[in-house]
Amino acid sequence: MKNSAKIGRNDPCPCGSGKKYKKCCMGRQDSQPVDMKKWYKQKYDIRLKESGDIEGIRAAGRIVLESIDMVEAAIRPGTTTDEINSMVHDHAARYGAVPAPLNYRGFPKSVCTSVNEVICHGIPGDYVLADGDIINVDVTHIYKGYYADASKTFFVGTPGPDAKKIVEVAAESLKSAMARLAPDNTIGDIGWAIQRCAESRGCSVVREFVGHGVGFAFHEPPQVPHYGKKGEGITLVPGMVFTVEPMINLGKSNLFIQDDGWTAVTADRSLSAQFEQTFLITETGYESLTPYPL
Ligand code: MF3
Ligand code: CO
Ligand code: CO
Repeated sequence: MKNSAKIGRNDPCPCGSGKKYKKCCMGRQDSQPVDMKKWYKQKYDIRLKESGDIEGIRAAGRIVLESIDMVEAAIRPGTTTDEINSMVHDHAARYGAVPAPLNYRGFPKSVCTSVNEVICHGIPGDYVLADGDIINVDVTHIYKGYYADASKTFFVGTPGPDAKKIVEVAAESLKSAMARLAPDNTIGDIGWAIQRCAESRGCSVVREFVGHGVGFAFHEPPQVPHYGKKGEGITLVPGMVFTVEPMINLGKSNLFIQDDGWTAVTADRSLSAQFEQTFLITETGYESLTPYPL
Protein backbone atom coordinates (compact mmCIF):
# COMPACT_ATOMS: atom_id res chain seq x y z
CA MET A 1 0.00 0.00 0.00
CA LYS A 2 1.33 3.41 -0.91
CA ASN A 3 1.55 6.02 1.75
CA SER A 4 1.36 9.11 -0.33
CA ALA A 5 -1.98 10.47 0.94
CA LYS A 6 -0.85 13.76 2.36
CA ILE A 7 -0.80 14.24 6.11
CA GLY A 8 -0.98 17.86 7.20
CA ARG A 9 1.38 19.16 9.95
CA ASN A 10 -1.60 20.01 12.11
CA ASP A 11 -3.56 16.81 11.45
CA PRO A 12 -3.95 14.43 14.35
CA CYS A 13 -1.02 12.01 14.21
CA PRO A 14 -1.92 8.80 12.37
CA CYS A 15 -0.17 6.80 15.09
CA GLY A 16 -3.25 7.50 17.21
CA SER A 17 -1.41 9.39 19.97
CA GLY A 18 -3.96 12.21 19.85
CA LYS A 19 -1.12 14.72 19.37
CA LYS A 20 -0.63 16.83 16.28
CA TYR A 21 1.37 15.12 13.53
CA LYS A 22 4.12 17.78 13.69
CA LYS A 23 4.48 17.25 17.46
CA CYS A 24 4.57 13.47 17.09
CA CYS A 25 5.66 11.15 14.25
CA MET A 26 6.41 13.79 11.58
CA GLY A 27 10.04 13.47 10.53
CA ARG A 28 10.68 10.70 13.01
CA GLN A 29 12.97 8.08 11.49
CA ASP A 30 11.77 5.25 13.69
CA SER A 31 8.05 5.84 13.19
CA GLN A 32 5.91 3.05 11.74
CA PRO A 33 4.64 3.48 8.18
CA VAL A 34 1.22 5.10 8.31
CA ASP A 35 -1.63 2.68 9.00
CA MET A 36 -3.89 3.89 6.22
CA LYS A 37 -6.94 2.18 7.67
CA LYS A 38 -6.64 4.02 10.98
CA TRP A 39 -5.67 7.19 9.23
CA TYR A 40 -8.66 7.34 6.86
CA LYS A 41 -11.07 6.44 9.65
CA GLN A 42 -9.66 9.12 11.91
CA LYS A 43 -9.34 11.83 9.33
CA TYR A 44 -12.38 11.26 7.05
CA ASP A 45 -14.51 8.61 8.83
CA ILE A 46 -13.85 6.41 5.78
CA ARG A 47 -13.74 2.67 6.49
CA LEU A 48 -11.26 1.04 4.11
CA LYS A 49 -12.19 -2.52 3.13
CA GLU A 50 -10.11 -5.68 3.52
CA SER A 51 -10.14 -8.74 1.28
CA GLY A 52 -12.95 -10.50 3.18
CA ASP A 53 -15.10 -7.39 3.00
CA ILE A 54 -14.40 -7.02 -0.69
CA GLU A 55 -15.46 -10.61 -1.37
CA GLY A 56 -18.68 -9.91 0.50
CA ILE A 57 -19.45 -6.75 -1.48
CA ARG A 58 -18.55 -8.53 -4.73
CA ALA A 59 -21.01 -11.32 -3.87
CA ALA A 60 -23.75 -8.75 -3.16
CA GLY A 61 -22.81 -7.08 -6.44
CA ARG A 62 -23.36 -10.26 -8.43
CA ILE A 63 -26.94 -10.47 -7.15
CA VAL A 64 -27.50 -6.78 -7.90
CA LEU A 65 -26.37 -7.27 -11.49
CA GLU A 66 -28.52 -10.36 -11.89
CA SER A 67 -31.54 -8.35 -10.69
CA ILE A 68 -30.75 -5.61 -13.19
CA ASP A 69 -30.37 -8.16 -16.01
CA MET A 70 -33.73 -9.70 -15.13
CA VAL A 71 -35.40 -6.31 -15.25
CA GLU A 72 -33.79 -5.51 -18.59
CA ALA A 73 -35.21 -8.69 -20.09
CA ALA A 74 -38.70 -7.76 -18.86
CA ILE A 75 -38.77 -4.10 -19.89
CA ARG A 76 -41.09 -3.38 -22.80
CA PRO A 77 -44.00 -1.06 -23.49
CA GLY A 78 -46.74 -2.19 -21.10
CA THR A 79 -44.48 -3.21 -18.19
CA THR A 80 -45.36 -1.36 -14.97
CA THR A 81 -42.81 -0.04 -12.51
CA ASP A 82 -44.54 -2.08 -9.78
CA GLU A 83 -43.79 -5.24 -11.79
CA ILE A 84 -40.13 -4.23 -11.83
CA ASN A 85 -40.28 -3.72 -8.06
CA SER A 86 -41.75 -7.18 -7.48
CA MET A 87 -39.18 -8.83 -9.75
CA VAL A 88 -36.26 -7.20 -7.95
CA HIS A 89 -37.69 -7.91 -4.52
CA ASP A 90 -38.45 -11.57 -5.23
CA HIS A 91 -35.12 -12.12 -6.93
CA ALA A 92 -33.24 -10.78 -3.91
CA ALA A 93 -35.35 -12.92 -1.58
CA ARG A 94 -34.38 -16.07 -3.47
CA TYR A 95 -30.77 -15.46 -2.38
CA GLY A 96 -31.68 -14.42 1.13
CA ALA A 97 -30.69 -10.88 0.17
CA VAL A 98 -32.59 -7.80 1.31
CA PRO A 99 -33.27 -4.82 -0.97
CA ALA A 100 -31.70 -1.87 0.82
CA PRO A 101 -34.16 0.81 -0.37
CA LEU A 102 -37.18 -0.82 1.33
CA ASN A 103 -38.01 1.31 4.40
CA TYR A 104 -34.72 3.21 4.03
CA ARG A 105 -35.55 6.60 5.55
CA GLY A 106 -39.16 5.79 4.78
CA PHE A 107 -38.70 4.81 1.13
CA PRO A 108 -41.70 2.56 0.43
CA LYS A 109 -40.35 0.16 -2.25
CA SER A 110 -37.45 -2.20 -3.01
CA VAL A 111 -35.92 -0.42 -6.02
CA CYS A 112 -35.86 3.04 -7.58
CA THR A 113 -37.46 3.38 -11.02
CA SER A 114 -36.85 6.78 -12.58
CA VAL A 115 -38.61 7.47 -15.89
CA ASN A 116 -37.76 10.20 -18.44
CA GLU A 117 -37.52 13.58 -16.60
CA VAL A 118 -37.21 11.82 -13.24
CA ILE A 119 -33.58 12.15 -12.15
CA CYS A 120 -33.56 9.55 -9.35
CA HIS A 121 -35.51 8.04 -6.43
CA GLY A 122 -38.60 7.35 -8.56
CA ILE A 123 -41.05 5.20 -6.58
CA PRO A 124 -42.45 2.14 -8.37
CA GLY A 125 -46.21 2.25 -8.85
CA ASP A 126 -48.90 1.76 -11.48
CA TYR A 127 -47.04 3.70 -14.19
CA VAL A 128 -47.13 1.79 -17.47
CA LEU A 129 -43.94 2.08 -19.53
CA ALA A 130 -44.54 3.50 -23.01
CA ASP A 131 -42.63 3.15 -26.27
CA GLY A 132 -39.82 5.74 -26.33
CA ASP A 133 -39.50 6.09 -22.54
CA ILE A 134 -36.17 5.80 -20.77
CA ILE A 135 -36.03 4.27 -17.30
CA ASN A 136 -33.25 4.08 -14.73
CA VAL A 137 -33.42 1.04 -12.48
CA ASP A 138 -31.30 1.46 -9.34
CA VAL A 139 -30.73 -1.68 -7.29
CA THR A 140 -29.00 -2.01 -3.92
CA HIS A 141 -28.99 -5.32 -2.09
CA ILE A 142 -27.74 -6.31 1.35
CA TYR A 143 -26.26 -9.79 1.25
CA LYS A 144 -24.63 -11.37 4.30
CA GLY A 145 -24.32 -7.89 5.76
CA TYR A 146 -22.65 -6.30 2.73
CA TYR A 147 -24.12 -3.64 0.41
CA ALA A 148 -23.61 -3.23 -3.34
CA ASP A 149 -25.26 -0.49 -5.39
CA ALA A 150 -25.65 -0.21 -9.19
CA SER A 151 -28.01 1.20 -11.79
CA LYS A 152 -28.56 1.36 -15.52
CA THR A 153 -30.81 3.39 -17.79
CA PHE A 154 -32.79 1.41 -20.37
CA PHE A 155 -34.74 2.29 -23.50
CA VAL A 156 -38.34 1.16 -23.65
CA GLY A 157 -39.11 0.11 -27.22
CA THR A 158 -37.56 2.45 -29.79
CA PRO A 159 -35.72 5.54 -28.49
CA GLY A 160 -35.99 8.98 -30.06
CA PRO A 161 -32.89 11.14 -30.69
CA ASP A 162 -33.04 12.93 -27.31
CA ALA A 163 -33.32 9.64 -25.42
CA LYS A 164 -30.39 8.20 -27.37
CA LYS A 165 -28.27 11.25 -26.67
CA ILE A 166 -28.83 11.52 -22.92
CA VAL A 167 -28.34 7.81 -22.28
CA GLU A 168 -25.14 7.83 -24.33
CA VAL A 169 -23.76 10.93 -22.57
CA ALA A 170 -24.60 9.48 -19.12
CA ALA A 171 -22.82 6.22 -19.98
CA GLU A 172 -19.81 8.08 -21.36
CA SER A 173 -19.72 10.23 -18.22
CA LEU A 174 -19.39 7.20 -15.97
CA LYS A 175 -16.77 5.75 -18.32
CA SER A 176 -14.73 8.96 -18.19
CA ALA A 177 -14.86 8.81 -14.40
CA MET A 178 -13.62 5.22 -14.37
CA ALA A 179 -10.47 6.29 -16.19
CA ARG A 180 -9.60 8.42 -13.12
CA LEU A 181 -10.00 5.68 -10.52
CA ALA A 182 -6.50 4.96 -9.22
CA PRO A 183 -4.48 5.53 -6.05
CA ASP A 184 -3.11 9.07 -5.70
CA ASN A 185 -5.84 10.59 -7.85
CA THR A 186 -8.46 12.58 -5.93
CA ILE A 187 -12.23 12.68 -5.61
CA GLY A 188 -12.14 16.01 -7.42
CA ASP A 189 -10.59 14.30 -10.45
CA ILE A 190 -13.68 12.10 -10.74
CA GLY A 191 -16.14 14.98 -10.77
CA TRP A 192 -13.92 16.98 -13.09
CA ALA A 193 -13.92 14.18 -15.68
CA ILE A 194 -17.70 13.76 -15.52
CA GLN A 195 -18.38 17.47 -15.78
CA ARG A 196 -16.08 17.84 -18.76
CA CYS A 197 -17.70 14.89 -20.53
CA ALA A 198 -21.30 15.99 -19.95
CA GLU A 199 -20.91 19.74 -20.40
CA SER A 200 -18.85 19.42 -23.59
CA ARG A 201 -21.94 17.82 -25.10
CA GLY A 202 -24.28 20.54 -23.88
CA CYS A 203 -25.71 18.46 -21.02
CA SER A 204 -25.63 19.28 -17.29
CA VAL A 205 -24.59 17.50 -14.11
CA VAL A 206 -26.97 17.17 -11.14
CA ARG A 207 -25.38 18.53 -7.95
CA GLU A 208 -27.85 17.60 -5.25
CA PHE A 209 -27.08 13.87 -5.35
CA VAL A 210 -23.61 12.36 -5.14
CA GLY A 211 -21.79 9.05 -5.17
CA HIS A 212 -20.92 7.62 -1.77
CA GLY A 213 -18.89 5.13 0.18
CA VAL A 214 -20.72 1.81 0.36
CA GLY A 215 -20.21 -1.73 1.64
CA PHE A 216 -20.83 -1.83 5.39
CA ALA A 217 -23.82 0.52 5.01
CA PHE A 218 -25.92 2.01 2.20
CA HIS A 219 -24.35 5.46 2.35
CA GLU A 220 -20.95 5.90 3.99
CA PRO A 221 -18.34 8.65 3.74
CA PRO A 222 -16.95 9.96 1.47
CA GLN A 223 -19.35 11.86 -0.74
CA VAL A 224 -18.36 11.68 -4.41
CA PRO A 225 -19.67 14.74 -6.29
CA HIS A 226 -20.08 14.40 -10.04
CA TYR A 227 -18.58 17.85 -10.59
CA GLY A 228 -15.33 19.26 -9.29
CA LYS A 229 -11.80 20.39 -9.86
CA LYS A 230 -8.75 18.36 -10.72
CA GLY A 231 -6.57 17.57 -7.73
CA GLU A 232 -9.12 18.67 -5.13
CA GLY A 233 -10.66 16.57 -2.40
CA ILE A 234 -9.66 13.36 -0.68
CA THR A 235 -6.84 11.28 -2.17
CA LEU A 236 -7.92 7.82 -3.39
CA VAL A 237 -6.20 4.93 -1.63
CA PRO A 238 -6.44 1.13 -2.02
CA GLY A 239 -9.33 -0.35 -0.06
CA MET A 240 -11.72 2.54 -0.68
CA VAL A 241 -15.11 1.34 -1.96
CA PHE A 242 -17.55 3.90 -3.28
CA THR A 243 -20.11 4.46 -6.00
CA VAL A 244 -19.90 6.79 -8.94
CA GLU A 245 -23.39 7.51 -10.25
CA PRO A 246 -23.58 10.61 -12.44
CA MET A 247 -27.08 11.95 -13.13
CA ILE A 248 -26.95 13.87 -16.40
CA ASN A 249 -29.70 16.15 -17.70
CA LEU A 250 -30.35 17.04 -21.33
CA GLY A 251 -31.26 20.59 -20.23
CA LYS A 252 -30.42 22.47 -17.05
CA SER A 253 -29.25 20.86 -13.83
CA ASN A 254 -31.96 22.31 -11.54
CA LEU A 255 -34.46 19.98 -9.95
CA PHE A 256 -37.43 19.80 -7.62
CA ILE A 257 -38.72 17.04 -5.36
CA GLN A 258 -42.29 15.86 -5.78
CA ASP A 259 -44.81 15.83 -2.93
CA ASP A 260 -44.00 12.18 -2.20
CA GLY A 261 -40.76 13.51 -0.68
CA TRP A 262 -38.56 11.36 -2.97
CA THR A 263 -39.06 11.72 -6.73
CA ALA A 264 -36.47 14.18 -8.08
CA VAL A 265 -37.49 15.79 -11.38
CA THR A 266 -35.66 18.14 -13.76
CA ALA A 267 -37.00 21.68 -13.28
CA ASP A 268 -37.16 22.19 -17.05
CA ARG A 269 -38.69 18.71 -17.55
CA SER A 270 -35.77 17.68 -19.77
CA LEU A 271 -34.71 14.02 -19.91
CA SER A 272 -32.25 12.71 -17.29
CA ALA A 273 -30.17 9.53 -17.35
CA GLN A 274 -27.84 7.78 -14.90
CA PHE A 275 -25.44 4.86 -14.64
CA GLU A 276 -23.95 3.67 -11.35
CA GLN A 277 -21.40 1.08 -10.28
CA THR A 278 -19.68 0.23 -6.99
CA PHE A 279 -15.90 0.55 -7.31
CA LEU A 280 -12.92 -0.64 -5.29
CA ILE A 281 -9.64 1.28 -5.48
CA THR A 282 -6.83 -1.27 -5.88
CA GLU A 283 -3.04 -0.95 -5.69
CA THR A 284 -2.87 -0.39 -9.45
CA GLY A 285 -6.21 1.19 -10.34
CA TYR A 286 -9.72 -0.03 -9.68
CA GLU A 287 -12.05 -2.98 -9.85
CA SER A 288 -15.79 -2.66 -10.34
CA LEU A 289 -17.64 -4.79 -7.80
CA THR A 290 -20.77 -4.42 -9.98
CA PRO A 291 -19.15 -4.64 -13.41
CA TYR A 292 -21.05 -4.25 -16.66
CA PRO A 293 -19.93 -2.93 -20.03
CA LEU A 294 -20.62 0.71 -20.90
N1 MF3 B 1 -29.61 3.64 -4.76
C1 MF3 B 1 -29.58 5.05 -4.51
C2 MF3 B 1 -28.12 5.43 -4.57
O1 MF3 B 1 -27.54 5.18 -5.57
C3 MF3 B 1 -30.18 5.45 -3.20
C4 MF3 B 1 -31.63 5.21 -3.14
S1 MF3 B 1 -32.22 5.70 -1.61
C5 MF3 B 1 -33.79 5.13 -1.67
O2 MF3 B 1 -27.51 5.93 -3.67
F1 MF3 B 1 -34.25 5.22 -0.51
F2 MF3 B 1 -34.46 5.85 -2.56
F3 MF3 B 1 -33.78 3.88 -2.07
CO1 CO C 1 -25.61 4.92 -4.87
CO1 CO D 1 -27.98 3.34 -6.41
